[in-house]
Amino acid sequence: MKIELKQIGVIYTLFKTKEETPIQPFKSEAEGRIEIFPKYAEGLDGIEQFSHVILVYYFHKIKDERLKVKPYLDNNIHGVYATRHPHRPNHIGISTVKLLRRDENILYVGQIDIVDGSPLLDIKPYVSAFDRRDNVKNGWLEGKI
Ligand SMILES: C[S@@+](CC[C@H](N)C(=O)[O-])C[C@H]1O[C@@H](n2cnc3c(N)ncnc32)[C@H](O)[C@@H]1O
Repeated sequence: MKIELKQIGVIYTLFKTKEETPIQPFKSEAEGRIEIFPKYAEGLDGIEQFSHVILVYYFHKIKDERLKVKPYLDNNIHGVYATRHPHRPNHIGISTVKLLRRDENILYVGQIDIVDGSPLLDIKPYVSAFDRRDNVKNGWLEGKI
């Protein structure tokens, strides 16, 4: 099945290249600005009640796709779905970021790990009861984070 998605906005950050971008939000102190296209802005109503949001976006600087990758935090090769590596077949990224404030169709966020200009596909509120898990196994990342 071929699926077509709508871009709902643009993520602006200070990171112009992949190389200078932090590897995960929890390692980042950087702030960013997210512009939601006016036709989708009404969908933001109520979002200011949340401290964190989950951004779903397109890794627009990736051209190829790989099923085996060497992730940033390891020298071993892993299946791409056992990693958060951007060279994945659908080039989709997710980042939980801090919501600092909303100004109409603009969101100001903290703890960002995204390259400037990334197309935004979706936003969801981070809800601790839904999204937090205890007794977690972190696979090959254990001891590295
Ligand atoms: C390891 S990935 C994790 C991204 C996200 N938190 C996730 O788990 O899906 C983070 C890296 O993706 C790369 N990246 C971020 N935005 C990108 C974009 N728009 N195009 C290509 N690579 C990007 C940067 O190199 C960044 O360090």
